[in-house]
Amino acid sequence: MGELIEEWATQIAKAELSNALPRRWAHTQGVAKRAVEVSQILDQDAGLIVAAATLHDVGYAPRLAATGFHPLDGARFLRDEHRADERLVRLVANHSFALLEAEARGLREELATEFPSLERPLLVDTLVYCDMTTTPDGDRTTAQDRVAEILSRYGDDSVVGRFIRRAAPEICASVERVEAAVAAQPR
Ligand SMILES: [Fe+2]
Repeated sequence: MGELIEEWATQIAKAELSNALPRRWAHTQGVAKRAVEVSQILDQDAGLIVAAATLHDVGYAPRLAATGFHPLDGARFLRDEHRADERLVRLVANHSFALLEAEARGLREELATEFPSLERPLLVDTLVYCDMTTTPDGDRTTAQDRVAEILSRYGDDSVVGRFIRRAAPEICASVERVEAAVAAQPR
């Protein structure tokens, strides 16, 4: 894996998001950029994390929205239409604590059975880091501001609002673990 998987991911994400959802595409490009910046902490999985960052929100594409829960819709699309790498698909399905939101939507069993979470915690943390330190427009932000922005966008009592409040401590812990791994890298 390496540049090839990254190019492949960009082509798919661009085709599904750039026209249909330009703002989501801008976010996606920012998340992918964050992944490139920190990918060296994942050694042989560097290409995988960039591809997962590029495709994490592909399930928002209107034509792919089958259940309306984008991590699941995106993962199924990548598995079924693109025969994507199994670890990539499982990363997309579980990105940014999707299991917690799946629970609120009554989809927890379905998600956990079909797409078990990955065995390498730093991969999962890194995708959280990239997603949660990027604004909806693709700019850099902090996890605290990102959580606040999501809460204000969806509302405290929405499914997403309740999910994000529950996930916030986990999100911050993931971001801290990735920052520590980045800081520990030889320069
Ligand atoms: Fe997402």
